[in-house]
Amino acid sequence: MHKKEWETIHRWEWFRREQWLHTFRQEKFGSYGGSPAAVKRILGDAGGKVVLDASCGLGLKTVVMHEIALDVVGCDQSEFAIEKARELSRLEQHPLEFFTARWRELPSRTKMQFDLIFNDALSSIVTREDFELALNGFRGALKSGGYLVFMGAPEGSTPHDALAVLEATWEARPKFSIQWTHTEGDMRCTALLARDRREDYIDEHHLFIVEEGGEQRLETATIRQPIYWHWALLKDMFHRAGFSHLETREFCGMGKGGTDFTLNVATK
Ligand SMILES: C[S@@+](CC[C@H](N)C(=O)[O-])C[C@H]1O[C@@H](n2cnc3c(N)ncnc32)[C@H](O)[C@@H]1O
Repeated sequence: MHKKEWETIHRWEWFRREQWLHTFRQEKFGSYGGSPAAVKRILGDAGGKVVLDASCGLGLKTVVMHEIALDVVGCDQSEFAIEKARELSRLEQHPLEFFTARWRELPSRTKMQFDLIFNDALSSIVTREDFELALNGFRGALKSGGYLVFMGAPEGSTPHDALAVLEATWEARPKFSIQWTHTEGDMRCTALLARDRREDYIDEHHLFIVEEGGEQRLETATIRQPIYWHWALLKDMFHRAGFSHLETREFCGMGKGGTDFTLNVATK
């Protein structure tokens, strides 16, 4: 989803990498483990097990997962992101395997079968048809008994809860914000974020003001955050896709600043 948009965002994130190269571990792992440590806990004994970071982007979480002794491979739909994820893992002294794939085509893009697939962007799928195609792709790339772990609406959530989440998500951040500015040689980029709320989704408009050789130009990328996925819908889609079990697991004190968070775990 949003392939071109993600490539634009990744391109400018890579441009400003000097700003995050020394801090990304803290951001992704923190002092409390975050989702990489939660993945390790779900796997139990990780020995001999292989994890796929299926929305790896520039590979930041993939690198962190490797550093906590997970055997991990990364994939993403974006060729640019995969090229840079390889470069990042080389820079960090442990070259990892990455490949390009859309979730729906995973079984035709790799011969590997994974013990666990992690996805931090599954809930940003916009249509039910795309969601079901993605689930089929994941099921095909999982070993029997393997897990698909994703961030999403928790167990028992209703359409009414989804509206409360929309409200809270909308209120949590300003409608317009300046994200960062970075200069490299004679190129300077300033990233702005503008948010737009509709009935059951929020559009995030990423605006990049690029100044180069005395000229200014604007690049944009819009990522839609749907807020309508709720538990009954998820259960139904996972059941139809052939997953035997779906549950929400809570990770107490492992989030940013020691906060709690949940992950959904579907078993093939
Ligand atoms: C939130 S970003 C990932 C951030 C990354 N996990 C990190 O922690 O730095 C979501 C990623 O999912 C990828 N993505 C979205 N839909 C996809 C699809 N259908 N197939 C493969 N990748 C997809 C995007 O290209 C993007 O790189």
